[in-house]
Amino acid sequence: MSQRFIDLYKDLPTEYVDGFKSIFDSISFAGELSNEQFQMLKQITNLEEQELKLALLPFAAAYSVAPISKFYVGAIVKGTSGKLYFGANLEFAGAQLGQTVHAEQSAISHAWMKGEEGISDITINFSPCGHCRQFMNELSTAEHLSVQLPQRDEMTLQQYLPESFGPKDLGIESGLMSPVNHGYHFVENDPLLEKAIDALNRSHAPYTKDHSGVSIKTKDGMLFCGSYAENAAFNPSLPPLQVALVQLQMAGIAFSEIAEVGLAEMNEGSISHLADTQSTIEAINPDIPVTYVAISE
Ligand code: THU
Ligand code: ZN
Repeated sequence: MSQRFIDLYKDLPTEYVDGFKSIFDSISFAGELSNEQFQMLKQITNLEEQELKLALLPFAAAYSVAPISKFYVGAIVKGTSGKLYFGANLEFAGAQLGQTVHAEQSAISHAWMKGEEGISDITINFSPCGHCRQFMNELSTAEHLSVQLPQRDEMTLQQYLPESFGPKDLGIESGLMSPVNHGYHFVENDPLLEKAIDALNRSHAPYTKDHSGVSIKTKDGMLFCGSYAENAAFNPSLPPLQVALVQLQMAGIAFSEIAEVGLAEMNEGSISHLADTQSTIEAINPDIPVTYVAISE
């Protein structure tokens, strides 16, 4: 049984508990809900779709790692496939605050790495900060994205971000989460770096063209990866390590399980994630080795 949700069951009406446990305590639960599972929860609770998503926010926030702020944010996004994906904020004690992942970025990058090509809506337990509004304005679905907060009417991202600055101001039409394959290959037989290059091939870096990806190998030998997600306003960009750490966290695997990290980026790019990847990993555990490859055009 997952320890993560134990306290939450106490707050649920008793007639919901068995149904919730059948989903959230399942060994295969990985922070996402299929349409069938969501319909089952709707039946159990008799709640409307938006109300149910709000009721599920504590289950998303249960993934938060916030040793600095102790402020636990949860987000749930609906992918264009209809599946729901959880996300939560991740903070890194010992690193600088700019390395933090916001819950909105977590849920969105979770859905992206699981193959979603856009999201239709996001439900969050606190109002999205300016940086997240800007991050969401990078998405393929930014024009029509709706945002649901507790005790608020559903509003569009464009209502939350009037007179916005975005990709079009820099002449970019392709949104974050649009499927891409940059087609780079790697000849050496190294599964860790191959996985990082898979992530690099899906990265969204239309401003620098400096695609990059990170892979994480766990002590059990499982591999996770994250692609770099660039933003038109530059600073809200989400580094590849952060995206990979989101995948690990949402699979229910603690950062203490990380054995090795791989970073792939472009040779002689105008930017590099090497120093930040090394320093954030060092803040997690200085014994984790970071392997690096730079790909040539
Ligand atoms: N936080 C979010 O996750 N989303 C927001 O938009 C507001 C702020 C997180 C970041 C940090 O971990 C903590 O809340 C305090 O700002
Ligand atoms: Zn934010």
